[in-house]
Amino acid sequence: MITHFAKLELNTVSIEGMKQFYQDQMHFPVVSESQDEISFQPTEYFTLSFKESEESMRPAHIAFQVPFSEFEHVVDVLKERGITLLKWSDGRIVNDYSTGKAVYFRDGDGNLLEMIAHSYVKEDIVTPSGDLKILYLREIGFPIDDCIVFSEWMVQLFDFKLASVSDDFRFAIGGTAHAVIPSKKRKWIPIAMTALQPSMIVTFGVSSTVFIQEVKSKLDAKAVPHEWKEDGWLYFTLHGYHIVLTLTNFPVDVPARLNLPFSIM
Ligand SMILES: [Fe+2]
Repeated sequence: MITHFAKLELNTVSIEGMKQFYQDQMHFPVVSESQDEISFQPTEYFTLSFKESEESMRPAHIAFQVPFSEFEHVVDVLKERGITLLKWSDGRIVNDYSTGKAVYFRDGDGNLLEMIAHSYVKEDIVTPSGDLKILYLREIGFPIDDCIVFSEWMVQLFDFKLASVSDDFRFAIGGTAHAVIPSKKRKWIPIAMTALQPSMIVTFGVSSTVFIQEVKSKLDAKAVPHEWKEDGWLYFTLHGYHIVLTLTNFPVDVPARLNLPFSIM
């Protein structure tokens, strides 16, 4: 099964700008840095990388899961760091809904970030990372022309489960990874940001080489070009999104122990 988002690689117009935001303001450890690339490690199992590019920027959307009991503290820390929290049209900052809370903000490239907490997520399973108490990367946004077709690919290839299903929006969920799949015509909340398709490489952590081989067989059957290494690595492109599956040691029972929907083993 797919257990989590292991890595996200985005383009940037400024390595230094990303460093000032993610290292200085978010306090994410830098794990590697070169002239044209920088990588941060917000949690033990997730790496966020930026590569300098001359392509025009199309901002991404990602959401970090934090403990429900720490949500107000996390919001205070963001404010103390001088991070501008985005407002809804009625002026409020926190999105308070039936099962959770969320706040939104942006990095220097305009990527739309979110801190989200859910009351049903068990808090004694994963040790929070850093002073922003991050449990894991919950969401990556995949704006697409046809979200029905793209989400069905994720269901067929990865055994993902769908939630919040409508014609122009859906979640595709595997483990702790929530692919947010809106139609490009739908705008990102809370600032009505146009949902462009970012240039990105998304690496999913996988629990076994057998699973990777199964996905490879499905790609073969559908004649999707791909690169594969037998020791646990698969790369392919789907509707312009670059996707990698890689074998990791993320504990396979964590999503179920966190009490995440669709994860009961
Ligand atoms: Fe989100």
